[in-house]
Amino acid sequence: MSINQLIYISQAVRKMSLEDLNTIQKQSKSNNQPIEVTGSLFYNGGWFLQVLEGPEVILNNLYNKIEKDPRHKDSRILYNEPAKFRTFPRWSMNMVNLDDRQSDKYVELVEVIEAAKTDRKIGSVSPAATLLKIFKS
Ligand SMILES: Cc1cc2nc3c(=O)[nH]c(=O)nc-3n(C[C@H](O)[C@H](O)[C@H](O)COP(=O)(O)O)c2cc1C
Repeated sequence: MSINQLIYISQAVRKMSLEDLNTIQKQSKSNNQPIEVTGSLFYNGGWFLQVLEGPEVILNNLYNKIEKDPRHKDSRILYNEPAKFRTFPRWSMNMVNLDDRQSDKYVELVEVIEAAKTDRKIGSVSPAATLLKIFKS
């Protein structure tokens, strides 16, 4: 089945606690699993960056729902392209809380979010493409 990858950035309306993030992840996992959506949600200093992977129509419908969620605002799509493979095949929704510095890819991921905030490229590569590249290796 052909799939797309959709990546957006948004701003949390308030500082998210670990519990807030766990609630979002739990909700996402149980909804995404039956519709064959996978991906990862990154949180850093009040900003969300999410990768959603799945059939194009399903992703667009899901994004329309997520975008309206009152826990965040100013959502902006950075990337929505067909993909040969999923980058997060094993995750109905992975969660990376960068405020906890829990990731071994912390420095690269924060750079991606910082660049995405202002639509700046990293070298000559877009933040979204850089993000996908980080998880390819
Ligand atoms: C940053 C963020 C990311 C989210 N990601 C997902 C997601 O991947 N899948 C999902 O179903 N809901 C996601 N949600 C939650 C949805 O906006 C919505 O609250 C939820 O899907 C409603 O679930 P329900 O229809 O079962 O009540 C996310 C919410 C936020 C704030």
